[in-house]
Amino acid sequence: MNQDRPQHHMAFGTIILLLLFVGLTLFVASIMRANPVPDAAASGATFRTKCAMCHGQDGAGSTVGKSMNVPDLRSPAVQKLPDAQLAQIISEGKGGMPSFKGSLSEDQIHSLVSYVRSLHQKK
Ligand code: HEC
Repeated sequence: MNQDRPQHHMAFGTIILLLLFVGLTLFVASIMRANPVPDAAASGATFRTKCAMCHGQDGAGSTVGKSMNVPDLRSPAVQKLPDAQLAQIISEGKGGMPSFKGSLSEDQIHSLVSYVRSLHQKK
């Protein structure tokens, strides 16, 4: 009869341990999942602050951009360009497009190239 209680306590302890374990697993999983996100989110934010005023957040071109004849960044004409050329255009500028090598690091330019690629995949 008296043995009922310790067993009850043990079951309770096991449940607590299980909950802790599940919680820890979810926590670790959320950190691992969060890790690749900042890069994509960061380049999305860079694009929004540096490029979207001409190219629009989706790459199609803002009103200002369209008046300057910006190409649709999702179009095959832009997407067929090799990464190195996209990076060079962002860094050196082209036509009405300003040069960004003074305000963006090489890493930022590279993640913007990936961002431009991801615009294509979203369509
Ligand atoms: C002041 C407006 C403006 C801003 C800001 C701007 N662009 Fe552009 N962008 C242009 C114009 C205009 C063109 C067309 C240039 C041409 O072909 O003469 C262009 C072209 C491009 C092209 C395609 C070039 C080609 O040969 O097809 C890419 C890629 C590009 N921009 C990426 C970016 C990225 C990334 C940013 C942000 C870092 C950015 N642009 C910021 C105006 C802008």
